Amino acid sequence: MADTTLTWLGHASFRLDTSGGKRVYIDPFLNGNPKCPENELEPERADIIALTHGHGDHVGDTVAIAQKHGSTVVALVELAGWLGKNGVDEGKLRNPNKGGTEHVDGVLITLVNAFHSGSAPDGSYAGEPSGLVVETEDGKSIYFAGDTCVFGDMQLIGRIYHPDVAVLPIGDHFTMGPREASVAMDLLGVKRVVPCHWGTFGLLTGTPDQLDVPAGVTLETMEPGGTITV
Ligand code: NI
Ligand code: MN
Repeated sequence: MADTTLTWLGHASFRLDTSGGKRVYIDPFLNGNPKCPENELEPERADIIALTHGHGDHVGDTVAIAQKHGSTVVALVELAGWLGKNGVDEGKLRNPNKGGTEHVDGVLITLVNAFHSGSAPDGSYAGEPSGLVVETEDGKSIYFAGDTCVFGDMQLIGRIYHPDVAVLPIGDHFTMGPREASVAMDLLGVKRVVPCHWGTFGLLTGTPDQLDVPAGVTLETMEPGGTITV
């Protein structure tokens, strides 16, 4: 079995290539994302797209990618409904709510809590924002916090899903900044953390060097286009 790898596409967008050969896009905001590498703007395939919430910098190119590649799209029920009305094949939509796990071709995707606001790109209601836990065929677990502030029940996410890697927003203003993200790392009890939602726009002032990294945690600071093995 191949390794599961995680590639940062800038902002909160990631490509996850799983041990079983599935290509999963998380919040694929590619076109319009000033940090998305040029060679990542047009995915060559996309088996699964998973979304944390309806804001435009997370829904991004979802509709176009799903139409082109016939991707299965996992999103919270109201957001999934919006996607179905806006061009995603309803037969390819999975519409869980928080706490629900979708099994998609050997990859498990669970919606977990997040504290943020939510609407679809056209301003309509898109349900509550969520985080995502993706569990791959090799048993690896990756937690994408989505847009959120820190919250105490991140402890539960650590306890239940044991993420090998946590992907946390640190940019401040629209999400938690470094001070809260440092506590999030501790609450999750995770060993490896990838910072995201930073450096995209001038408003996002939080940077990885401002993090107070707990003992035993490896900070996996990436450049857009960079990849780590999970
Ligand atoms: Ni947001
Ligand atoms: Mn955002």
